[in-house]
Amino acid sequence: MKKITVVGTGYVGLVTGTCLAENGNEVCCVDINKKIVEQLQNGKLTIYEPGLDALFQKNMRDNRLSFTTDLTQGTKGAEIIFLALPTPSSADGSADLTYIFQVADQLATLLVHDQATIIVNKSTVPVGTADLVKKIISSKFHGKFAVVSNPEFLREGFAVEDFMKPERVVIGASIDWAKEVMSELYQPFVRQGNPIIFMDERSSELTKYVSNAFLATKISFMNETALLCEKLGANVDQVRIGIGSDTRIGNRFLFPGIGYGGSCFPKDVKALIYTAQQNNYDFKILSAVEQVNQIQHAVIINKILDYFQGRIQGKKIAVWGLAFKPNTDDIREAPALYIIKRLKELGASISVYDPVAMENTKKIIGNEDIEYASTMYQPLKSAVALVVATEWSEFRNPDFGKIKSLLVEPLIFDGRNLWELQAMKKRGFIYHSVGRPNGN
Ligand SMILES: NC(=O)c1ccc[n+]([C@@H]2O[C@H](COP(=O)([O-])OP(=O)(O)OC[C@H]3O[C@@H](n4cnc5c(N)ncnc54)[C@H](O)[C@@H]3O)[C@@H](O)[C@H]2O)c1
Repeated sequence: MKKITVVGTGYVGLVTGTCLAENGNEVCCVDINKKIVEQLQNGKLTIYEPGLDALFQKNMRDNRLSFTTDLTQGTKGAEIIFLALPTPSSADGSADLTYIFQVADQLATLLVHDQATIIVNKSTVPVGTADLVKKIISSKFHGKFAVVSNPEFLREGFAVEDFMKPERVVIGASIDWAKEVMSELYQPFVRQGNPIIFMDERSSELTKYVSNAFLATKISFMNETALLCEKLGANVDQVRIGIGSDTRIGNRFLFPGIGYGGSCFPKDVKALIYTAQQNNYDFKILSAVEQVNQIQHAVIINKILDYFQGRIQGKKIAVWGLAFKPNTDDIREAPALYIIKRLKELGASISVYDPVAMENTKKIIGNEDIEYASTMYQPLKSAVALVVATEWSEFRNPDFGKIKSLLVEPLIFDGRNLWELQAMKKRGFIYHSVGRPNGN
């Protein structure tokens, strides 16, 4: 059992805290947001994440998991302090480290001499951040402590599974006693033999950025391939299967769509471009990845405008899906929001449905010109078209007869390629998707 503090109780912090408690540790999660802490203290989750509630309830009940807004109280006796704080994009694309440095400064006055403490950076941070955190703390505290980089690779929607059984754990550490403690902490999570990879702090920090940048590159590459398929009359689904069977390429993350979103890829690609620039290196591929992603966000809008010859003023359009991907209520940088904003600017009225992300969306874009429907079929009534923006599984096998009867005409713009072209043709839909010939 280790006594652990997790500072920042958002998507990463809450999952980290809960999963560490599940493996027998005593965990206190600290957040400055009173509302979040109160809700969690009252036994109600603040995010939607499959499998999290059961672990959260169990560990709260067994007193291994607690929440506070008070950093002093939350760090009392802690052997390991995780930082799971936001690192958003600054205006110039760099990662904003204000939250990290503020907490590091507070910790410098809270660490105690009779306890060796490891500060673990779980936030995605630029190369050199561990050194800076070390410097901030050692300017005021002269006891035994170490700063370790431990980037998080969980996927929202699979966060519990990914944390409990990670494909790998990366730890950037140069001090032996800290390496030993981190190794002990993670052993229960890698019993099936997945590796704990130790490296220096800088390489560990860079590993996280390169990992996300590579995945974003895969997405943009397939999105460009899809656009080329449309011009050539080829079908990207077939091309995808054709290339994915080559093990050097692999068959995952090859699905084209409406551009990547979420709280990580957009900001992490920007931050890596910035880091490269600051070091006199032009990371050309990444600039293209970003540019392609911007273009891809507009793909569905352009298809709609083409179909209606630019005239969508006053027309009702139904949108299925708001979350940036299925199985999460996270709407940060969600492509659906871009589509909705643009359709509103073009004068359309919007009716939306998402199984879990509607409350978060209301907080961001409000109710004006948007109807939030309580079932997936409700938005379709009298709409001229359905737009699919998130591939929730309940959208995969809908009542097509009902869809047809509710829409003004059987017109679908599918940004996620949910359905087979031939089947949609048979069902009588005018079906536009991404990188595949249009069905009429
Ligand atoms: N969300 C993901 O899927 C994911 C995956 C891997 C890595 N990351 C990285 O992890 C970090 C956290 O991401 P997230 O999605 O969990 O962010 P988040 O915004 O969901 O959560 C951050 C939390 O930190 C709290 N906070 C801010 N300042 C604080 C302070 N001074 N003291 C205590 N709490 C404070 C906020 O109130 C918020 O609840 C980021 O660097 C992100 O890039 C995120």
